[in-house]
Amino acid sequence: MPIHRRPSWHIPDREATPEHLYISRRSLMAAGGAALAATPLASPAAAGTDVTALSALRSRRTRSLKEALTPLAAVASYNNFYEFGLDKGDPARNAHTLRPSPWTLAIGGMVARPLTLDVDRLIARLPLEERVYRLRCVEGWSMVIPWIGVPLSAVLSEAQPLGSARFVRFTTLADRAQMPGLASPVLDWPYREGLRIDEAMHPLTLLAVGLYGRVLPNQNGAPVRVVVPWKYGFKSAKSIVRIDLVGNQPLTSWVQAAPREYGFYSNVNPNVPHPRWSQARERRIGEIRRRDTQMFNGYGEEVAALYRGMDLTRFF
Ligand code: MTE
Repeated sequence: MPIHRRPSWHIPDREATPEHLYISRRSLMAAGGAALAATPLASPAAAGTDVTALSALRSRRTRSLKEALTPLAAVASYNNFYEFGLDKGDPARNAHTLRPSPWTLAIGGMVARPLTLDVDRLIARLPLEERVYRLRCVEGWSMVIPWIGVPLSAVLSEAQPLGSARFVRFTTLADRAQMPGLASPVLDWPYREGLRIDEAMHPLTLLAVGLYGRVLPNQNGAPVRVVVPWKYGFKSAKSIVRIDLVGNQPLTSWVQAAPREYGFYSNVNPNVPHPRWSQARERRIGEIRRRDTQMFNGYGEEVAALYRGMDLTRFF
């Protein structure tokens, strides 16, 4: 007898945003919601404010998890964002110098229709969704975060990628006036990341503009970042200024810095240890116990087919 199993991210009706709020989201957009969406969060002290700005009014939760959310205070104060320093607390302390508005995102390379997008306007017109995703860092910690955004595929499609495009390259802001960490040669700036085109177009890959119901805090990658939940956190490039469709696998910042430690794919994989950290277990921020890390961070049902036939020890 076939067993009907609900996917782990199924949304019970009680969790979906009530219809009347969804409708006000639409009227808000019609009224030009950009101003509301454009308030940056400069410090975690302000993290509790303005919580309705994006979620209750403008986005609908489309994906849930039966796991506790990591508190916003932790999400916005324990970060990797080397442009603002190397300690986990540095981005929350220093990222107030980032100016996330106005912001331009260019989409180019192998596309029929290169685009230069004003991000405030983009946020105002996108049909935003709230999606709860696990994010696991290669260093062994993880979080559960309610992101707000749209599938990256929706925005890339507007630029009409050519059939010959095989990879996507993300380039993030490198402005010494806004980013004190650029004085350190720890990486070859700007921070660059990449995905294979089928990974970039996968429905799970999110172009995020908010979290916890409000615009992205600067330290989490304001105003626009990617979130690729089945890959280690460093694949999720923050504060993106350019997305290029390209023919060859792009050189990413971490592969360039330490090719023995970081591969292009960087799929969460408990069976392939990093030279300095086992990937078998992880600690959720805010918890003491450690839990087993799941293959593809628990998203295998949806993404394993992308890697069929590949030796994931070699293509790590
Ligand atoms: N993006 C930029 N531009 N610079 C960075 O240093 N760090 C990466 C990734 N994106 C990084 C970045 C790493 S190592 C991680 S683990 C995640 O961002 C952390 O995202 P979070 O602070 O929102 O948890």
